[in-house]
Amino acid sequence: MKTRITELFGIEHPIIQGGMHCVGLAELAAAVSNAGGLGLITGLTQGTPEKLAAEIARCRAMTDKPFGVNLTFLPAVVPPDYAGLIEVILDGGVGIVETAGNNPAKWLPSLQAAGVKVIHKCTSVRHALKAESIGVDALSIDGFECGGHPGEDDVPNMILLPRAADTLSIPFVASGGMADARSLVASLVMGADGMNMGTRFVATVEAPVHDNVKQAIVAASELDTRLVMRPLRNTERVLVNAGVERLLEKERELGAAMRFEDIAAEVSGVYPRVMYQGEMDAGAWSCGMVAGLIYDVPTVKALIDRIMSEAHAIIRQRLEAMLDERPSAALT
Ligand SMILES: Cc1cc2nc3c(=O)[nH]c(=O)nc-3n(C[C@H](O)[C@H](O)[C@H](O)COP(=O)(O)O)c2cc1C
Repeated sequence: MKTRITELFGIEHPIIQGGMHCVGLAELAAAVSNAGGLGLITGLTQGTPEKLAAEIARCRAMTDKPFGVNLTFLPAVVPPDYAGLIEVILDGGVGIVETAGNNPAKWLPSLQAAGVKVIHKCTSVRHALKAESIGVDALSIDGFECGGHPGEDDVPNMILLPRAADTLSIPFVASGGMADARSLVASLVMGADGMNMGTRFVATVEAPVHDNVKQAIVAASELDTRLVMRPLRNTERVLVNAGVERLLEKERELGAAMRFEDIAAEVSGVYPRVMYQGEMDAGAWSCGMVAGLIYDVPTVKALIDRIMSEAHAIIRQRLEAMLDERPSAALT
């Protein structure tokens, strides 16, 4: 399949694996890229330029296909060494960076001067337009359904994607709630040039996380996520568990007076405990409503091959048959 996104990034299929803290390691990024999509190493999981350089080298040893690095700009007491991280991205010959969390304007010139293509992830048309105006190459439009940080506007993809298509000129992918061929075809129909998946890629063989995490996603329904940290205007969609229930109880009690310190026990340092030790009640970790559409733990290649072959069938058989007025099986 050829879209503006496959052309821009030199990939076979218009499918991207979004940056994911403690999940987006070299194993997963390489598996996605080897299967014809675009895999991303999550920069802040490595933390230091030295560690990120080593992870890039590890990924390079596992794939000769294009892969990228996610750089998430978060408010932090001690900000990460972004300049150093960017230096090793450039030294490592990585051609694609996904930025997220905040305006990437400060870092765009150095990345683009070195020929790096930048895809910026955001959750509103207004932020997408801003990113387009500062010159990013592409956008990842993250709807309210998404795992992680959906922003504060709460606009689901059924509205957000066509609005983005009506407003933007540069290529964009649909993100949030994407699981299968239906997600991909629907995204294309709504004007996107491909799709970005987070939660779906956690439940794959190659995702380097504890099996408890994969099984929790398979067991979860679309009703099992919660929004946390809304009083801090840092809303995150997470899978419900005992730690999240504790956090929500504090939110109810403290209301607008809640500070980060009040909930630090349920959000700080939780990811390694969940992802690597499989402690499923440790606290808040990102998970999308799309968990309700995830029924298995396939290899990344099996997942991407299935998505692409079913997408072809939906377009050529189901949709074309409706136009031809061929009834029967096509209409099921
Ligand atoms: C476990 C997990 C961790 C994530 N960590 C990050 C992150 O560090 N940086 C980032 O930009 N997005 C992060 N995300 C968001 C994803 O990149 C992606 O935008 C989102 O998962 C899309 O929604 P979906 O889960 O419905 O596919 C994370 C998502 C998950 C599920």
